[in-house]
Amino acid sequence: MKRDFILNYVFYQHRNLGGYSMRQIQAEKYSKNMRIIHWIVGAFIITELVCGFLMGGLAVPFKFSVYSLHKSIGVLIFLFVVIRIFNRFNSKIPELPTAINKFERIAAKIAVFILYLGMIAMPASGYLMSVYYDYKVLFFGLGFPMFVEKKS
Ligand code: HEM
Repeated sequence: MKRDFILNYVFYQHRNLGGYSMRQIQAEKYSKNMRIIHWIVGAFIITELVCGFLMGGLAVPFKFSVYSLHKSIGVLIFLFVVIRIFNRFNSKIPELPTAINKFERIAAKIAVFILYLGMIAMPASGYLMSVYYDYKVLFFGLGFPMFVEKKS
């Protein structure tokens, strides 16, 4: 009975992985570069969200430092995402398991696209907000070019 259960489980998992064994699936993973950039950007985005929601309520001299840090990390995210997109087009991306149906396949692609769009739109909108407020954008203390001008 227990043996049947285990065999069923293994068969089910096997089918779910599109006929590939777990080892074959694991062999096809994202490149090391992609994985490193993924975790760096992930950690930065979490930091940005925490800073973003908290910084408005901080006391004054500290508040400015956090705003500055928020902007610097945001610019860094933008740069990493540009590298990430370049990397994605130039490295082998693991295939989705064949057991995934057409609808799920399309949904997964749309989700990835929206995530990339967000990773570009968030820093870009933050940058534009700074331009609109007439605030400087410094990159870890260094001057950062203002690519757009506020129209008065
Ligand atoms: C992925 C990158 C970024 C994320 C996830 C992010 C996230 C956030 C969040 C959650 C807020 C709070 C919004 C609110 O409370 O309504 C915020 C505010 C802000 N962000 Fe970002 N941000 C990013 C990049 C940037 C960049 C690159 C800049 C500027 C160069 C920037 C400038 C600002 C400014 C000035 C505010 C404050 C707006 C205010 O106080 O009214 N952000 N951000």
